[in-house]
Amino acid sequence: METVVSGIRPTGNLHLGNYFGALKSFLQLQNEYNCYFFIADWHSLTTRPKPENIIRSVRTILAEYLACGIDPEKAVIYIQSDVKEVLELYLYLNMNAYLGELERTTTFKEKAHQQPDNVNAGLLTYPTLMAADIIIHRAVKVPVGKDQEQNMEMARKFARRFNNMYDTDLFPEPASFSLSNKAVKVPGLNGSGKMGKSDGNCIYLYEDAASIRKKVMKAVTDSGPTIPNSEKPEVIQNLFTFLDIVSTKDTYNYFNEKWNDCSIRYGDLKKQLAEDIVAFTTPIRERIEAYSANIELLDKVARQGAEKARESAAKTLEEVRKIIGFRL
Ligand code: TRP
Repeated sequence: METVVSGIRPTGNLHLGNYFGALKSFLQLQNEYNCYFFIADWHSLTTRPKPENIIRSVRTILAEYLACGIDPEKAVIYIQSDVKEVLELYLYLNMNAYLGELERTTTFKEKAHQQPDNVNAGLLTYPTLMAADIIIHRAVKVPVGKDQEQNMEMARKFARRFNNMYDTDLFPEPASFSLSNKAVKVPGLNGSGKMGKSDGNCIYLYEDAASIRKKVMKAVTDSGPTIPNSEKPEVIQNLFTFLDIVSTKDTYNYFNEKWNDCSIRYGDLKKQLAEDIVAFTTPIRERIEAYSANIELLDKVARQGAEKARESAAKTLEEVRKIIGFRL
């Protein structure tokens, strides 16, 4: 089975956009590949988070991923900072990563611009740490968003460079498989663009029915169609995209016909949409609550994941040390 690695930045609660944009692909991948999914808590140190925030956000991610169906029996789910082997590989990769190429990385330039008072070496070497995350398991495929393409190119470059330098084929070049191809782009509720974390624009998986209904009822609409079979403006198309994602075909067709003959009532559509979203998220929310309340279980999952990840990482590192010329 081919190995897949993906890192998840601990950036808060998951919303429907995350679910259909990434998580749903992970659920499928765990059945087809030897998957390592980890929480990238070292990477988060580039922005100086408080210890209590790290602990909380790591547990949140764990609980939410498990609630969505990431199965620790199928995929290895672990916390990056539990697998210290990665750091040793990071060091070796850094020895052959050049200042110029690191400085030219778009994400580095963006971050340096965002936090001019804290342009730290961790930001600069973000791509080498990411490369180490991936090649420590000798992964061949990495599901990531389009924004990670440059980091992936660097990971391939660092893997290739190591191989060339030591005349070995230890590291396969990891290919990205773009989540954006498979992913369903969930629209935002405030009329345009995709679902993000801005106010009122997104529905979190943990949200209760009342709050979901309120948000959906507030979604932006227009004054309604006047010409039969007209094209839908973006705000309305977004609502239909939502129906397409969470409702039945019949429901979609029902409202589509109403749109086409200009008898649509947005209130009815939103009510139905809200119920369909609630039906989808309720079991997930219940599981999030159960997992979040069971810290012992979360810790156990993380511990067992770390053990498996370290086993794989240690094997690679043993080879690497031999190749470089270090004693075992
Ligand atoms: N850089 C990725 C992001 O911002 C997170 C990440 C860290 C990652 N290490 C990785 C993703 C290794 C894939 C593989 O989303």
